[in-house]
Amino acid sequence: MKSLIIYCSDYRNNTEKIARIFAEKIDSELINIRDVGDFDIQNYDLIGFGSGVYRESLSPKLFKLVDKLSLRDKNVFVFSTSGAGMAYYNRKLIKLLESKGVINRGSFSCKGSFTAVEFTKNKIFDIIGRLSQGHPDEKDFKEAERFICRVMDSL
Ligand SMILES: Cc1cc2nc3c(=O)[nH]c(=O)nc-3n(C[C@H](O)[C@H](O)[C@H](O)COP(=O)(O)O)c2cc1C
Repeated sequence: MKSLIIYCSDYRNNTEKIARIFAEKIDSELINIRDVGDFDIQNYDLIGFGSGVYRESLSPKLFKLVDKLSLRDKNVFVFSTSGAGMAYYNRKLIKLLESKGVINRGSFSCKGSFTAVEFTKNKIFDIIGRLSQGHPDEKDFKEAERFICRVMDSL
């Protein structure tokens, strides 16, 4: 069983922390999308795609990469960190993956800290930003471990 995790974590490495938990637990290869080179997707049985949420969306870089990959019948999962911590943000990428014929094994999300004033004047993000401080935390890491165990059990 070979697995690969590809992630984008350009802001504060929040998503990378979750990606590392997954990779350690299942002994997976790990690629930061920044360093993505040539690789053969056909070598992998399970592929995880993760990103921080930037302006209501997972990174466009991840969408671009997924667009190019041949993923029919591949087991995949999607994960994200965001100020709000909502799995809802994963939906669009899951839709794209499903349109490519994958078997979706799950979706994980948790909060990732951010400072709203760095990119918006919107007050609601100020509140969300304050609530996100300290995340991902130990509880998020435990949840991530439980999630990846469920993914493995489903294979
Ligand atoms: C430019 C920018 C836009 C963001 N937009 C959102 C957003 O729309 N919704 C949200 O919940 N969090 C938003 N966040 C917070 C990030 O999703 C959060 O900090 C995430 O953990 C970043 O992941 P990373 O450190 O792996 O890049 C935004 C952060 C940045 C820097």
